[in-house]
Amino acid sequence: MSQGIEQHNPGHSTRAQAHPNIALIKYWGKSDTLMNLPSAPSLSITLDTLVTETSITNASGNSDEVWLDGEKTIDLKIAGWLIDLRQRFDLPPLEIRSTNNFPTASGLASSASGFAALITAINAHCELGLDNNQCSIWARRASASAARSMQGGWATLSGPHWHVESLEINWPVRVVVAITDATRKAVSSSVGMAQSKDTSPYYPAWVETTTQDFAAATDLVAAQDFAALAELAEHSCLKMHGLMMSTQPGLLYWKPATLAVIHAIRELRAEGVPVFFTVDAGPQVKAICLPEAAKAVEDKLASISGVQQTLNVGLGPGAHLVTNATP
Ligand code: DP6
Repeated sequence: MSQGIEQHNPGHSTRAQAHPNIALIKYWGKSDTLMNLPSAPSLSITLDTLVTETSITNASGNSDEVWLDGEKTIDLKIAGWLIDLRQRFDLPPLEIRSTNNFPTASGLASSASGFAALITAINAHCELGLDNNQCSIWARRASASAARSMQGGWATLSGPHWHVESLEINWPVRVVVAITDATRKAVSSSVGMAQSKDTSPYYPAWVETTTQDFAAATDLVAAQDFAALAELAEHSCLKMHGLMMSTQPGLLYWKPATLAVIHAIRELRAEGVPVFFTVDAGPQVKAICLPEAAKAVEDKLASISGVQQTLNVGLGPGAHLVTNATP
């Protein structure tokens, strides 16, 4: 319910953290841009170590202030989302400060952790009374992948409600991220998705088969069948990039090192190492592996020319509050 503006924690700051998630069955395309509904379900893992931390205070002036990684910013996506939120809730002008400990907008899902942390912090700071499902719906309206970062571990986003759900499984895989280029991506996911829907002849087949892939993948995760999940997740990834490449103008997020890492991961798997790759709307490669293989995978990927940095991370929690302290 709406609250009086003056009751919203004046002088207090509220902090929340959220982690990026990596989709193994990919989301690419919307059925409804107003509510930001995906056209097909997705399945993801939420990571640890990589983190967005967001703090909210009441702004001293009459308008919102947004600081991203220490720089005052006008972020149209955040501004538009706050307009929608204010149609439902009575919010004071807010000062939003958000920092990532990893490169922003380079295929490491910073918008996912960003909006999950943001709604978690605003929900507490402004006493909106939203539960986790409702927070994930608000996060989704900004960035559909953000809904999944509301949940830790293995998570899904599927219709008809399009809020996050947990797969409730304790399967501690690890993810080695190979960073090949940490600069900001040229075409945002939202723009790229609209172009794919409008121009790719593969789009209807992508939507139809992703729905089938999702059903199969949830069964494979429940059975902890790594080998079969590896094949299906790589298929979903390559199919998404095939769709991207068949878009006009073609979307090509890979760098030469991206492909080199993909080949290396396939070679490792052929040698019996339990590892598979996935790549999002950026040039980084994420190698998902069983814990005992993580060191060998990281050593191999770090040795590839063009790999600037590797990160070796596990599965992390959903978005959560850090503190409710008075500064
Ligand atoms: C390639 O969630 O960033 O990472 O809803 O338009 O903000 P919007 O898109 P976003 O897209 C993520 C796309 C992806 C695949 C995935 O995470 O499922």
